[in-house]
Amino acid sequence: MCGIVGYIGKRQASAILVEGLSKLEYRGYDSAGVAIIDNNSIDVMKCKGRLANLEEKLKETPIEGTIGIGHTRWATHGEPSDLNSHPHSNEDGTISVVHNGIIENYIHLREWLTSKGYKFKSETDTEVIPHLVDYFYNGDLLDAVMKAVGKMEGSYAIGVICNSDPDKIVAVRKDSPMIVGLGENEFFIASDIPAVLNHTRDVYLLNDKEFVVLTKDGVKLFTEEKEEIRRDIYHVTWNADAAEKGGYEDFMLKEIHEQPKAIKDTMTSRIMPGKPITLDEIKITREELENINKIYVVACGTAYHAGIVGKYVIEKLSRIPVEVDIASEFRYRNPIIDKNTLMIVISQSGETADTLAALREAKNHGARVIAVTNVVGSSVSREADDVLYTWAGPEIAVASTKAYETQLVAMYIIALFFAENKKTLSKEELEDLKKEMLLLPEKAEECLKNKEIIQRYAAQTYTHKDMFFLGRGLDYAVAMEGSLKLKEISYIHSEAYAGGELKHGPIALIEKGTVVVALATQDELFEKMVSNVKEVTTRGAHVLGVTFEGNESIEKTVDSAIYLPRINPFFSPLLSVIPLQLFSYYVAVQKGCDVDKPRNLAKSVTVE
Ligand code: F6R
Repeated sequence: MCGIVGYIGKRQASAILVEGLSKLEYRGYDSAGVAIIDNNSIDVMKCKGRLANLEEKLKETPIEGTIGIGHTRWATHGEPSDLNSHPHSNEDGTISVVHNGIIENYIHLREWLTSKGYKFKSETDTEVIPHLVDYFYNGDLLDAVMKAVGKMEGSYAIGVICNSDPDKIVAVRKDSPMIVGLGENEFFIASDIPAVLNHTRDVYLLNDKEFVVLTKDGVKLFTEEKEEIRRDIYHVTWNADAAEKGGYEDFMLKEIHEQPKAIKDTMTSRIMPGKPITLDEIKITREELENINKIYVVACGTAYHAGIVGKYVIEKLSRIPVEVDIASEFRYRNPIIDKNTLMIVISQSGETADTLAALREAKNHGARVIAVTNVVGSSVSREADDVLYTWAGPEIAVASTKAYETQLVAMYIIALFFAENKKTLSKEELEDLKKEMLLLPEKAEECLKNKEIIQRYAAQTYTHKDMFFLGRGLDYAVAMEGSLKLKEISYIHSEAYAGGELKHGPIALIEKGTVVVALATQDELFEKMVSNVKEVTTRGAHVLGVTFEGNESIEKTVDSAIYLPRINPFFSPLLSVIPLQLFSYYVAVQKGCDVDKPRNLAKSVTVE
């Protein structure tokens, strides 16, 4: 996600901002920029690409000044480009803003500001902020920022400078991180502590909706009612490496824990109770949708597994037939495609060569393509007709977790969108599903509390050479993802089977002590799944069951059980995958594997 740094003091700001941003590179970014006040005017330098590009530009054209803000951007609204990079400014360049987060009501604010005569240059949600501050500015920057924030919905950490109030940085946060660094006669804001550790170990940790005013004389914190807050200084005792992982041992564990937020962000402004599903990036008309007679969902690896869940949910809600294909197979099997075919490609990176080739194949045959991707401006997003971005934030661990989770969210949103437009569900049914879906972030948070029992099960089983994952229906799709995760990071051979398929062959592999993870979240299939579990326990298998609270009867059949908080079982994949990710993680840790960088694997597979 984006990184923010701000500096006010006696030293030249430019080098300090760039150095601070370099400590936030782990957050992922696609462009960078700074805005610095010099002689009562603001100079901005920003560009697409690595921080080194910005450094190069600053070498060629240095910017003087001792007060400034800097930013590394991970694109969400608008592709990575010089124009969309931060800082963003008002029209006459007297106010500059850096922002991390998503302004959910930016379209409404943009229209409102446009009606007041404001002109926009970029495609970003952020650009509304400098214009809002400009609109409310009346000689007091803090006051203007407070009023601007009062109009904003969503998540934000922002830093603002203004040349009419040139000895100040004003900052605020809500649902996006921000800290204040307290040096010797110099002060900082930053998205994370590593950005200031070279200068100070004393920081204030900001809470949501707290405003901060930094001057060369000190730092003041305020509530939204403009009452001054007293805050204890937090003295940092740990090193920068630990901080990048937010206190977690590995990026993978951190990313597993980021899933509740990633789910929420991906639903943000798209699913709202009582309102139609809003997918600005999908332009397909109701008529075009009416004519679609077949959907191909095409992807690789984990994204392919998200596609399998997609098939279940799209077919169930919209009654359009769906085929799911592995991208590397799709293009060589002469698939039947015409202009009434819709293709949905799923790709975290948006650069996977096989997925891109399948997309091109479908387009050459006249199909319409929707891309589900996590990277704004990626090849897949540029070549598809429509894009639905997953807002998981950068995924650093090679094994995908939070990206998969948001790909699932995207598939459910698409299914609901189709059902709404094709009127295959009643208003009440749609509303009930939306309400249930909005509960997912808090339910996912609860699933993360199961860690100890999973850790214990991993400690008992990590020496095994083979494991099996079983499930029926949606559970089978999740079993495949659980099995892939285990293989990838622990190097244990594993297989996923549909519960009913077991007796047609694979049951020959079950012997005393064989580890089986059995998912049983689908009410109408529960008893059948219990029978499948009995088939393996009678042959000596050691079984971990995953089911919903209230299904404690499963304990009569399994050796250990993990209970998920109750939700409509239609949404169970979003919860049941979490214990499977944690299981793989703890097995890999027990085995001493490099969890974030498993052998032989690359994060983005750009070759065929
Ligand atoms: C598994 C994993 C891979 C990717 C696959 C597709 O944890 O990360 O299986 O899912 O290589 O990658 P994207 O989604 O970038 O197209």
